[in-house]
Amino acid sequence: MAPLYFFSTFLLTIVVSFPITNALGSASCEPIKANDKDLIQFPLNLEFLEAEFFLNGALGRGLDAFEPAFAAGGPPPIGAQKANLDPVTRRIIEEFGYQEVGHLRAIITTVGGTPRPLYDLSPQAFGKLFDKAIGYKLDPPFNPYSNTVNYLLASYAIPYVGLVGYVGTIPLLANYTSKSLVASLLGVESGQDAVIRALLYEKANEKVLPYSITVAEFTNAISNVRNELAMCGIKDEGLIVPLYLGAENRTESNILSADTNSLSYARSQPEILRILYGTGSEYKPGGFLPRGGNGKIARSFLDKV
Ligand SMILES: *[C@@H]1O[C@H](CO)[C@@H](O)[C@H](O)[C@H]1NC(C)=O
Ligand SMILES: *[C@@H]1O[C@H](CO)[C@@H](O)[C@H](O)[C@H]1NC(C)=O
Repeated sequence: MAPLYFFSTFLLTIVVSFPITNALGSASCEPIKANDKDLIQFPLNLEFLEAEFFLNGALGRGLDAFEPAFAAGGPPPIGAQKANLDPVTRRIIEEFGYQEVGHLRAIITTVGGTPRPLYDLSPQAFGKLFDKAIGYKLDPPFNPYSNTVNYLLASYAIPYVGLVGYVGTIPLLANYTSKSLVASLLGVESGQDAVIRALLYEKANEKVLPYSITVAEFTNAISNVRNELAMCGIKDEGLIVPLYLGAENRTESNILSADTNSLSYARSQPEILRILYGTGSEYKPGGFLPRGGNGKIARSFLDKV
């Protein structure tokens, strides 16, 4: 792991010296400064995604079955399905889905909404991310909807990105209303991430059949690929880590992903887009957002292409 860390630091140094787009794509780690409205609308890109993934996964119906006006005319997602979940997990995911509806309502009533972007939540979209994480084509292709463990692994890939985004956003906000809203969104988002990680940790050393890859190995691979895509060092850690990434350098278990003082990592909007697009570039849509995100911040990159 040490060489990776040093390489990332090296990369960061290059990036800080040359903040303009370079051969590696744009690789600024700086957050975009914007007004509170644009800063709070940006996470709608994640909240819509989570709402659709969780509601469809638990119930086979998405946001339009509950609050159709929230989409503001944006298209329904491609490929979202009801997942084959055990009863406890299904209940948890259903609750998470409703929580996302509440989050959307809170954001929309506070700063106004933006149209739901087009999402690709198909098994193929997840399959591609998992292939990239593992480093070869999984056979059979990874399907997030086929069982509880697969669905939890796919879920591992989502609220965490929202969590680190909110941690990154709060210090940029100007006023009390905005800060208190985002603090409260962060609270529940990190709770969701913790539940998903704890459920996966119980199975950390089990193989994800039919692959010969354990649950913990999958989480490490997903975290690593997110760090690579975001290009801003280690801000994402799997469930079993080298001691130097564990709490107080004393644990290899890593139920929560956090820095050396066990504080949450923060990510900027460009880092989040690089991950969600799966392209490593906030200018190049793809992955879960084939046409890119919505709102002023996400569109500002796309309008430059
Ligand atoms: C504070 O921010 C909210 C949005 O979060 C906005 O609706 C409100 O007008 C702002 N208040 C002031 C005093 O700027
Ligand atoms: C843990 O190790 C890192 C180096 O990997 C070091 O910077 C940090 O101070 C250590 N933390 C403690 C509590 O010893």
